[in-house]
Amino acid sequence: MKTLTEKIEDKVKQAFAAAGYDPELGHVSVSNRPDLCEFQCNGAMAGAKKYHKAPFVIADEVAQKLAGDAAFAKAESVKPGFLNLTLSPEFLAEELNEMASDAKFGYRGEETPKRVVVDYGGANAAKPLHVGHLRSAVIGESIKRIEKYAGNEVTGDVHLGDWGLQMGLIIEQLRDMKPDLPYFDPNFKGPYPAEAPFTISELEKIYPEASARSKKDAAFAARAHEATLKLQSGDPACTAIWKHIMNVSKKDLKKNYDSLNVHFELWKGESDVQPLIPGMVKDLQDRGIAHESQGAVVVDVAEDSDKIEIPPCLVQKSDGAALYATSDLATILDREATLHPDRYIYVADKRQSLHFTQVFRTARKAGFVKPETELLYVGFGTMNGKDGKPFKTRDGGVMRLENLVADITDAVREKMAGSDGLPKDEMEATARKVGLAALKYGDLSNQASKDYVFDPERFSSFEGNTGPYILYTIVRINSILNRYRSEGGTLEESERHIGSPAADVEKNLGLCLSRFPEVMETAREELAPHKICQFMYETADAFSKFYTNVKILAEPDEAKKKSYLSLLTLVRDMLTTCTDLLGMEVPERM
Ligand code: ARG
Repeated sequence: MKTLTEKIEDKVKQAFAAAGYDPELGHVSVSNRPDLCEFQCNGAMAGAKKYHKAPFVIADEVAQKLAGDAAFAKAESVKPGFLNLTLSPEFLAEELNEMASDAKFGYRGEETPKRVVVDYGGANAAKPLHVGHLRSAVIGESIKRIEKYAGNEVTGDVHLGDWGLQMGLIIEQLRDMKPDLPYFDPNFKGPYPAEAPFTISELEKIYPEASARSKKDAAFAARAHEATLKLQSGDPACTAIWKHIMNVSKKDLKKNYDSLNVHFELWKGESDVQPLIPGMVKDLQDRGIAHESQGAVVVDVAEDSDKIEIPPCLVQKSDGAALYATSDLATILDREATLHPDRYIYVADKRQSLHFTQVFRTARKAGFVKPETELLYVGFGTMNGKDGKPFKTRDGGVMRLENLVADITDAVREKMAGSDGLPKDEMEATARKVGLAALKYGDLSNQASKDYVFDPERFSSFEGNTGPYILYTIVRINSILNRYRSEGGTLEESERHIGSPAADVEKNLGLCLSRFPEVMETAREELAPHKICQFMYETADAFSKFYTNVKILAEPDEAKKKSYLSLLTLVRDMLTTCTDLLGMEVPERM
């Protein structure tokens, strides 16, 4: 179905044509003065020049053509030449009923479905997760769900950093910790043990220790570098340890992501594409796309229109080693061969912007992707602590995700202390769901590129623009609907009908809901979950005003009561859909 704005625009365009003007002048947008009208058209202003007439005269003529249209309660021209439009309650109700009977509330989704890859999460195996990885997971998961909702075929890939120096560091630290392991015995004939020589909690300590040590101990750093090279050239002992690291680390990462309700279709990593690299670099050189520069291999990607200098993309260091960009380019080759994406979406820290510019330009220059393939990068800002500096734990360390979730769950539990009566198990599960929603909404309600302050107290509040407030709205509506049913009322789909809104609070709520398809379109096109949050908050707020001013279950007229409850059902269904698109879950009670 067409969006509400499109429907109104059609009418206004027809009116322009009927009055003898170019219909294209009839562009309509949601009013930026909601106190004056609901929609507006400024076309008469633009038409004034073309037709050598005062804009007000044109606006007046068009308004007259619209006068008989039942869609409008008011279509008036105001000086100097605007058209202010207010919908009739009947027309709005008709629209809402049409939306309610559509599986996606009138959202058409992507015109031609696309194959989409979302590259997000981006954890590094064996290294601690940090808050940047949290943001990537939360934002990426939401973008993935938005793309799916648009009808696209979407693959999420965690793209693990699993092939770097961290592996050499761990191997050498392990050698010093447990020299008797068979991996370090040059005469060992194998096979190597199936069991890992460390647990996850040991592994978690090994990397930071080794990393700190390498900064002070040059000999150790050199050993780690060498072990990394050995691993990369297929040494059996190093490979065996690497496999253990990967198994232990992946299991832990899966647990972490699961607890965030973040799920990847693919668990690939940089290591998976290493075999493609030598051929790729050679091909780039053979075709003259890459050239040598001081022993390294680079691709020039600067463009005349650049406002800042874009240095060449480094694909091979002078010692022959591959780099971050090399892995990303080889990953594109792999994805082209296996997934044939129409659209790539990378969700990573905004400080990686230059990296993605270089990779995208190289991929295009080399023809790795079709010219029409979209290469998109969502760069997010930093999650800061209340001191305005990048978030750290009290002791200055980087917070583990588990602790972060636990912190906010604690804050939620405290606020829920008043809701006695919930059995202990349900209370715990609910606090977790609400806590996670608080965390995610706190992140997603900001434009991704902006930094934001992690504030468990504010995020977990049941009032204001927060996740818990949205969930509470849904839970409250469900409880009204349940009460109606428990008192013998029925509201089968066939009985649902939204009547023409009478009160302002009712009409405002309806108007909020009517924006859903447009909000989804924008959120998809701009890869902007915060637009969905904005919609949710406005809707929840409009509901709250409606609820305060209109008696619902006490309404004596049964048809009117059913109309209110049908409206509430639509609010509940849309908000629930939105929570799912953000990766939040709705508890039964809270
Ligand atoms: N592992 C990287 C990091 O921790 C993020 C990966 C982002 N994705 C990509 N395809 N480069 O910074």
